[in-house]
Amino acid sequence: MSSENPSSNNTAPTTTLIHRPRRLRRTATLRRMVQETTLSVDDLIYPMFVMEGEGQKMEITSMPGCYRYTLDLLLQEIAEVSRLGVGAVALFPVISEIKKDDMGSESYNSEGLVQQTVKAIKQAIPNILVITDVALDPFTTHGHDGIVDENGVILNDPTVEVLVKMAVSQAAAGVDMVAPSDMMDGRVGAIRKALDAEGYIDVRILAYSAKYASAYYGPFRDALDSAPKFGDKKTYQMDPANTREAIKEVALDIAEGADIVMVKPAVAYLDIICQVKNNTQLPVAAYNVSGEYAMIKAAAQMGWIDEKKVILETLTSMKRAGADLILTYFAKEVALILANS
Ligand code: PBG
Repeated sequence: MSSENPSSNNTAPTTTLIHRPRRLRRTATLRRMVQETTLSVDDLIYPMFVMEGEGQKMEITSMPGCYRYTLDLLLQEIAEVSRLGVGAVALFPVISEIKKDDMGSESYNSEGLVQQTVKAIKQAIPNILVITDVALDPFTTHGHDGIVDENGVILNDPTVEVLVKMAVSQAAAGVDMVAPSDMMDGRVGAIRKALDAEGYIDVRILAYSAKYASAYYGPFRDALDSAPKFGDKKTYQMDPANTREAIKEVALDIAEGADIVMVKPAVAYLDIICQVKNNTQLPVAAYNVSGEYAMIKAAAQMGWIDEKKVILETLTSMKRAGADLILTYFAKEVALILANS
């Protein structure tokens, strides 16, 4: 009994059915022909962690298979993922405590870790697209994405001023795209204006438009040692219960000049991805965040799920929901899987 033969099931029907959707599922060829969504290596952006020093990589305990790399080893890893077809990396720096302050001023140091890393990547592997994060949390002693006043309030406009300096210094280092992940009001417009004024008209903005105050960021904060020292991020990141607010945030970022809008996290927010997609002509990105990665890794390590299949199914669901691009720690693994399938 060949499952490849669509007409092998020729026994007389016991009932008359006009529609038999299973006809189109009978063979692998047919299933491929009617498949509505495809996951491609072109969709993937690889978030990577860079630290100071040389010749070292440190695995992140809550993110097995993800490392903090020193620049030399980061370059090797990027060269490898580039060979596998991954087109873009998103950089996150691990900043040593002595360089942190209340204002996050290391974030716009022209010789800072991010700026040096961007320069080195663009020199060594010019065809990989480099995206840098614009937010203060890796650089502040308190771990918040913005400047905090004496009452613990995160100040919007003074923070935007620092974010602008940060984005301009990343552009000066040669970055292709900046990604404000801070959720301050008005930062996309302010960054666009400053980039243009400095002549960086082609530096794109990937806006974390609908970024939720999510517990799924836990492992990432371990990776960067950036967990907030007090309070939470609910006065700037969005309430997980809200949809219309996401549409509003996306509309504002588009009006302010975003080139790509993003929803974050992804798995628990597929409905938001779908709605955002229906409300914009811009490309939509989804961030498959650290906690989502950690859950799949943990279950796979326990032998409870088929890791490769679950990864592909999960990322395909984001594409199906409407994501054009996916930031995922699985990027390298998926590139390998797709290359061998
Ligand atoms: C910080 C930032 C976070 C992530 C990306 N940029 C964490 C946070 O907002 O606390 C999370 C990424 C992840 O969990 O994979 N601006």
